[in-house]
Amino acid sequence: DLWPPHALEHPEVDTPPVSSGPGGVTLIIPTFNESANVAELLRQLRACLPAHPPCEVLFVDDSTDDTPALIEKAAADCPFPVAVLHRDSPAGGLGGAVVEGIARAGSDWIVVMDADLQHPPHLVPELVGEGERSGADLVVASRYLPGGSRAGLAGGYRVAVSRGATWLAKGLFPRALRGISDPMSGFFAMRRSAVTGAVTGGALKPLGYKILLELAVRCGPAKTAEVPFVFQDRFAGESKSTAREGLRFLTHLAALRSASPLARMIGFGLIGLSGFVPNLLALWLLTHAGMQYLAAEVVANQAGVLWNFLLIETLLFRDRRRHRHWADRVGRFALLANADLLLRIPLIALFVDRFGLGVLPATALALVTTFVLRFVATEALVYLP
Ligand code: GDD
Ligand code: MN
Repeated sequence: DLWPPHALEHPEVDTPPVSSGPGGVTLIIPTFNESANVAELLRQLRACLPAHPPCEVLFVDDSTDDTPALIEKAAADCPFPVAVLHRDSPAGGLGGAVVEGIARAGSDWIVVMDADLQHPPHLVPELVGEGERSGADLVVASRYLPGGSRAGLAGGYRVAVSRGATWLAKGLFPRALRGISDPMSGFFAMRRSAVTGAVTGGALKPLGYKILLELAVRCGPAKTAEVPFVFQDRFAGESKSTAREGLRFLTHLAALRSASPLARMIGFGLIGLSGFVPNLLALWLLTHAGMQYLAAEVVANQAGVLWNFLLIETLLFRDRRRHRHWADRVGRFALLANADLLLRIPLIALFVDRFGLGVLPATALALVTTFVLRFVATEALVYLP
């Protein structure tokens, strides 16, 4: 293949790294149709990457244009090794590309940056230098420190979205993101020793743009540091981000949050509660259309079940879906959801008649019991771990 590149001695993928020298840096740059940017990017990197520590550049490319050819052409003038890993299937998008790059990196330090020059190349040595000085495992280039700014975020709309996303992520992961003012940044340096465990253990499940969030939450670096930076305007071309990327971000947050069983159970409960909305809506529609109310109850319940199923599939168990065919999963899920209803009545009777509970506490206890049972059964019978 293209990796390892010419100058530095490099490990094969899957073998322990040989090393590119102490403090060496592998720069990982994801590219998607950046043909108008890569030559200028390499030109600027040539001007600012030092000979020591030794640096090398790995592009992880999902382009459909001539970006890889242009990189190879511009690489001929570079004093440092440059390689392109072109992926045939763009799994995981930007984040997936970065993780594939990390799996192939052999240096002590990994630096991730964009190809469109929104991330100033001269900060690469500074990020690594700050890590060496402070002993941090992760150094984030932040737009929110004094001296930093988001000048290149075009429009109030994008600024507001970025703010909201930052606030949401920090609210959901207060501990993992403590000390990181800009978890949405795509520009950072990380010690390879702090990520290799997660990479080889398959713990990383990147989904779209927020790769720093993925690494900060799943790798839990012991010490972090930050360096301010000014997010520049794009050199050429347009952002590759779409509305779909926003949806992916929310799914990514849910996937990260539901890594713990307790959080998963809470998510399951919240989704279950939200199911009342389609359930009542369907009941209203059906009874107004003239259906007898008990029959309508049964049918409307299925609307809630379907709603719950779709949310649980995308938000809670997205990486456990492959174990069964989707029709199998719907069937089992619907069976459990309806069994839940059937089980509740005899349980209430049991609590009232045998244990002498009042009707209300008995009902509440039955609700909690069937909820926990249904959660455990869904995990075990629909989405095998
Ligand atoms: N390999 C690969 N695959 N690269 C991709 C893909 C993909 O599917 N999508 C985008 N890229 C590359 C782009 O070619 C570019 O080099 C880099 O990832 C960033 O993409 P942009 O489309 O320029 O992102 P942005 O400017 O909207 O967002 C950047 O800034 C945000 C902060 O506001 C990114 O760094 C975000 O991660 C960051 O949150
Ligand atoms: Mn950009």
